[in-house]
Amino acid sequence: MAKYVSGFSKLSKSDKINWIVDTYFSNNQDAKTILKQYWNTNIKLQNLHDEFIENTITNYYLPLGVAPNFLINGKHYTIPMAIEESSVVAAASKAAKFWLDRGGFKAEVISTTKIGQVHFMYNGNVELLKSYFEFIKPQLLSDTKSITKNMEKRGGGILDIELVDKTKSLDNYYQLHASFDTQDAMGANFINSCLEQFAKTFKDNANGFKNMNSDDLVIVMSILSNYVPNCLVRTEVSCKVSELNEDENIAPEDFANKFLQAIQIAEVEPYRAVTHNKGIMNGIDAVVLATGNDFRAVEAGVHAFASRNGSYTSLTHASVNDGIFKFWMEIPLALGTIGGLTNLHPLVKLSLELLGKPSAKELMQIVAVAGLAQNFAALRSLTTTGIQQGHMKMHLMNILNQFNANDDEKKTLVEHFKTNVVTHSSVVEAIEKLRQ
Ligand code: MEV
Repeated sequence: MAKYVSGFSKLSKSDKINWIVDTYFSNNQDAKTILKQYWNTNIKLQNLHDEFIENTITNYYLPLGVAPNFLINGKHYTIPMAIEESSVVAAASKAAKFWLDRGGFKAEVISTTKIGQVHFMYNGNVELLKSYFEFIKPQLLSDTKSITKNMEKRGGGILDIELVDKTKSLDNYYQLHASFDTQDAMGANFINSCLEQFAKTFKDNANGFKNMNSDDLVIVMSILSNYVPNCLVRTEVSCKVSELNEDENIAPEDFANKFLQAIQIAEVEPYRAVTHNKGIMNGIDAVVLATGNDFRAVEAGVHAFASRNGSYTSLTHASVNDGIFKFWMEIPLALGTIGGLTNLHPLVKLSLELLGKPSAKELMQIVAVAGLAQNFAALRSLTTTGIQQGHMKMHLMNILNQFNANDDEKKTLVEHFKTNVVTHSSVVEAIEKLRQ
């Protein structure tokens, strides 16, 4: 069967599946069964999911877990997390409980400005361009009135538009650099619609201005930026060093020192910083996904922020002063609690309700806290027991499932590995022994 297909998107869902299984699978009945076993029997719900994207053939499940006992700015939360990696939810819950007993997390939104740009080339007199921009700026704003009306009612809108000369970096390159407040919406559609209108107004009116020639002005593209260093949230925990550790194998002062050293290493060593920040993103992405936000946008923006000073560094920081341990993070997060998937996906709606229907600002705080908690849990195990102990315990269940262990086998083996070291081979050995 040819691996090329034309008009695929126009085929029915069944025909799409038929073509895929006939073309790529030797046992097409098995492949079909697997794909169909994830269809939802509730047709309305299935149609909803089918229409999120194009060429849907089935659903791809991720577990949705919860981490209870988060205390943030004096308020209790149970945080929903959609993630496939074992031990992330357990680590979040553990860190939440640890800080619950020490005053909880503090979080504050520092700023909420988002950015969008019209990128264009201009091959003419710069002073003329500058005066054209000043002339057209009011019309750039007035031509977007129909787009901004509702957003303005909610207290948001366009904050400013600047003309930026980028010709030192690239010949003839300029931007309309605009800033926005999108309130509780992530705002991608709003920003992009405004930008496309700016581009049209800017191009269409150029010919009428003095001796400007619109052919000298080429719009390349109009798009929001996922780099949002001015959409920033800060979160922090602190306690007396003496209250820091519950583990009698390590003195609290030694734990604090090692923790600080782990942070300092991530501050100066990019190889470590990437993994350190990856652990933070375990918490962040899981909540971002559960609440229907765009984790790719968040990832891109966060990592750009982590390298804003020219080298990639830790997102978290820690200090000990006058016997007080402090651990904090500032992170850019462009999130929404209205629009997009938030009104559509039943589990997203449920997750937001579980969080008490937060505003975008409150969600920024919750997400940042999930990241800080995750980093605390990771550094705590890395600098004390090592990461594998907890990890492999959680991983045990995955291995048991791979071997289709039944409930009795699981019970026996979980008990066995409470006192034995979990490795892939030790689990396989134990299953085989049990089954003999
Ligand atoms: C694993 O998903 C995340 C960690 O590697 C993070 C870290 O090393 O800090 C444990």
